[in-house]
Amino acid sequence: MVSYEHTPVTVAGKRAVVVGGTSGIGQAIALGFAAEGADVIATSRSEDAVEETAAEIEEHGVDTARVTCDVTDAETLDEVRETAEDAFGGVDVVVASQGAISRETVRDIGDDDWDFVTDVALDGVRRVTQAMAPAMDGGGSIVNISSLAARLAMANLPAYSAAKGGVEAFTRASAKELAPEIRVNAIAPGFVITPQNAETYAEGTEKREKIDDRTPLGRVADREEMVGAAVYLASDASSFVTGEVLTVDGGFADSAF
Ligand SMILES: NC(=O)c1ccc[n+]([C@@H]2O[C@H](COP(=O)([O-])OP(=O)(O)OC[C@H]3O[C@@H](n4cnc5c(N)ncnc54)[C@H](O)[C@@H]3O)[C@@H](O)[C@H]2O)c1
Repeated sequence: MVSYEHTPVTVAGKRAVVVGGTSGIGQAIALGFAAEGADVIATSRSEDAVEETAAEIEEHGVDTARVTCDVTDAETLDEVRETAEDAFGGVDVVVASQGAISRETVRDIGDDDWDFVTDVALDGVRRVTQAMAPAMDGGGSIVNISSLAARLAMANLPAYSAAKGGVEAFTRASAKELAPEIRVNAIAPGFVITPQNAETYAEGTEKREKIDDRTPLGRVADREEMVGAAVYLASDASSFVTGEVLTVDGGFADSAF
């Protein structure tokens, strides 16, 4: 007799930390987790942003705590871990959604721009992993936010592309080393509307038309459309998935034109 029972796709009852969780995709994930019944700490550099998102998390009747961090400073991430341990007794899920970008070209980019981007986007993921893994002693799931730029050449984004390629390689490396207790996966979003880029991708712009034309689903994504992938990778339903990159791009990357 075949059993059709399966583990539900949910983060209810889990304890999550979302770095870069007070705006954009990270905030959507933090609030999506809270809406499902997870306790969530959403952290970034801004005290005001942390407070605002924490208040929204609490509206879902779950626990949270307030702590800021700068992913370029490992000590601040130790404070995040300590805060989570004090508030929740441990951590089951970590999402690294912090972002940094520079549009300097391959010919022109200098050390300062390069280092700024890689320090936040790549070294930051490493620091988040190193700081948070010790709190995940009951096992858990780390979800790193990558980008299509890891595998598709995008003009004027050399540091960002290199950092995201590094994030995907580091995701596989840490998946191997932290197994079997901790699973590590990445999400590669396509073009996602956030409050910060709403103008760049505004309807009617040439950029938006090009993206919509090439995307099989014919549009850019709302940030809430990243939440399902994060819930899946964070949940026990993905218990046999690690070292994987889940592309959420409406089909863009695999579509020729
Ligand atoms: N929006 C998109 O279209 C898109 C596409 C692909 C990948 N991504 C990736 O998704 C992630 C989230 O991007 P977003 O579009 O939501 O951007 P966003 O700017 O809205 O969010 C980034 C968050 O990171 C925080 N942050 C930045 N530097 C930090 C630091 N040094 N320490 C701690 N926190 C820091 C910011 O405060 C903010 O909360 C990023 O990794 C980005 O590269 C975004």
